[in-house]
Amino acid sequence: MVKVFESSVVKKDEVASSTFLVEMEGEVDFEPGQFVMISLQNEISVIPKPFSIFYSKDGVFSVLFKVFGAWTDRFSKAGIGEKVRVYAPCGTGFLTAMKRYEISEPKNILFIAGGLGIASLYPVIDFFGKSKSSLIFGGRSSQDIILKDIISEKVKSLHITTQDGSEGKRGVVLDVLFKEVSPYDFDVVLSCGPHGMIKALWDFWNKNKIDVPLLFAMEERMGCGLGLCFSCAVKARHGPKLCCTYGPVFSHSEIVF
Ligand SMILES: Cc1cc2nc3c(=O)[nH]c(=O)nc-3n(C[C@H](O)[C@H](O)[C@H](O)COP(=O)(O)OP(=O)(O)OC[C@H]3O[C@@H](n4cnc5c(N)ncnc54)[C@H](O)[C@@H]3O)c2cc1C
Ligand code: FES
Repeated sequence: MVKVFESSVVKKDEVASSTFLVEMEGEVDFEPGQFVMISLQNEISVIPKPFSIFYSKDGVFSVLFKVFGAWTDRFSKAGIGEKVRVYAPCGTGFLTAMKRYEISEPKNILFIAGGLGIASLYPVIDFFGKSKSSLIFGGRSSQDIILKDIISEKVKSLHITTQDGSEGKRGVVLDVLFKEVSPYDFDVVLSCGPHGMIKALWDFWNKNKIDVPLLFAMEERMGCGLGLCFSCAVKARHGPKLCCTYGPVFSHSEIVF
């Protein structure tokens, strides 16, 4: 059940260029893939914004975010002790979504992350553990391969791609599929990343008629995060679905681009 509570920033680290890991007071009982809606108490940032819950333990929860516009710029300047209002946990996480799509307990999982998409996948990797988790992690440059040292310890195999070749293989995550990693070696593929990457994966699955289940977390624009404003509806085979309540995790077989 979603709870609304007042919290405050207890720690803030710039972990990569314009990318911040912020810890806030209060533990959130969440399922990997669920998110928080956060609002700050000033004019720009009073509108709540969604962020994946990165971890929650020892009386705090955290989010990992990149500065994209006015809101995230303001949040990046939040001081220790700054008050925030939080709605959490929101949405349907990866575990519940796997049950919905009748995917049984996987033994071998391929994760595909694009840039900040790692924020949503990190707790899922943590949940399933190293022995079950392989990761393809892509970005525009090495700056997007966030927390590489920590993440590489959490997976049994890691393939990195960057579009400028500054880290790992030059190219995009799809360039690794079939050439270095076969989706058929896995029980399920879980992904999160920019809209363009998710659409490309969806096309790739359909074009190659891959029958390994692919689930992805979608980062739609959200107004309320609570199923009230209908601003986050996505096209699905049997009519629109709300990304903030039914999602953000969907099966590729259900979504229509
Ligand atoms: C369920 C969910 C979970 C999310 N989890 C995270 C997370 O863990 N970490 C995180 O950094 N972000 C996450 N996001 C995205 C985050 O909510 C947005 O980055 C944020 O709302 C941007 O607000 P803004 O006002 O700073 O920028 P805006 O003014 O809203 O956007 C500025 C510009 O950046 C572009 N932009 C905004 N967000 C993104 C994006 N994610 N990727 C590429 N371009 C973008 C916009 O199209 C626009 O051109 C999540 C979104 C959803 C729906
Ligand atoms: S964001 Fe308001 S209904 Fe989904």
